[in-house]
Amino acid sequence: MATTDVLYEDVATMPRGGPAASWLDRRFQTFALEYLDRDDVPDDVKQRVIGMLDRIGTLTKQHEKYARTALDVVAGIPNPRILEIGAGHGKLSAQILRLHPTATVTVSDLDPTSVANIAAGELGKHPRARTRVIDATAIDAADDSYDLVVFALAFHHLPPAVASRAIAEATRVGKRFLVIDLKRQSPLAMMLFPVMALPINLVLLRCSWNWPGLHDGFISALRAYSPSALKALGRAADPQMNVELLSSPTRLGPPSLTVVFSRLGVDDRG
Ligand SMILES: C[S@@+](CC[C@H](N)C(=O)[O-])C[C@H]1O[C@@H](n2cnc3c(N)ncnc32)[C@H](O)[C@@H]1O
Repeated sequence: MATTDVLYEDVATMPRGGPAASWLDRRFQTFALEYLDRDDVPDDVKQRVIGMLDRIGTLTKQHEKYARTALDVVAGIPNPRILEIGAGHGKLSAQILRLHPTATVTVSDLDPTSVANIAAGELGKHPRARTRVIDATAIDAADDSYDLVVFALAFHHLPPAVASRAIAEATRVGKRFLVIDLKRQSPLAMMLFPVMALPINLVLLRCSWNWPGLHDGFISALRAYSPSALKALGRAADPQMNVELLSSPTRLGPPSLTVVFSRLGVDDRG
């Protein structure tokens, strides 16, 4: 435990671009919080962001593609037990249930309003789904309760030390931890992001103005981790952590990063 604590402290100051991030890359990161992370922001503003993510993911079939990626990771397991953390609207879990006849899902988020909305909808009534409020960094579940833990478009919300703790937790309660998130862009691409993202967002939202969504999207780009940062975070959680980079499930939208974390000897665990 002492060794892990020391490593956590090391990653706490790691730039989002990874241990060897350039001087310029380090200028393009922020400690600003997204609306979704702030206690002083009203629920309806946060739900506008969640609603935008739901609509964009539905239009681009992103929820379905992410669900297929999750199911690929558990292919060969007859009745996979899946925990989704940071589910927001829950559409990824809904797609998992649609695509797999026996999978069970626990759909969770840190935000009680999002969980209440999911519980009140169709997914909340599904016989193979249950809903929970869960903090990714302190998951109330026994070791190996799940075959897979999945976290989509949310990992960048966690600062490095917290993100490393989330990897440790997810690979404790689950055999594998699938993270799909925005991929950190080069400084030039980040400079162009506001210009590129505005027309795309406006078209996708059928020209309706969604300032909270654009606000959070811009901050997300500056908080996104690089592949080398994700490897360092995994190794800080456990020096023998296996960190496997998969190809991106989507071509539309901003580039994404898909990573599976698992501990040594995971397949020998009961
Ligand atoms: C950008 S949204 C992504 C929602 C959804 N997964 C998607 O793909 O559209 C990020 C979500 O992560 C949740 N979140 C942030 N920090 C969290 C934490 N520590 N534990 C669990 N969920 C968290 C937020 O409440 C929010 O619903």
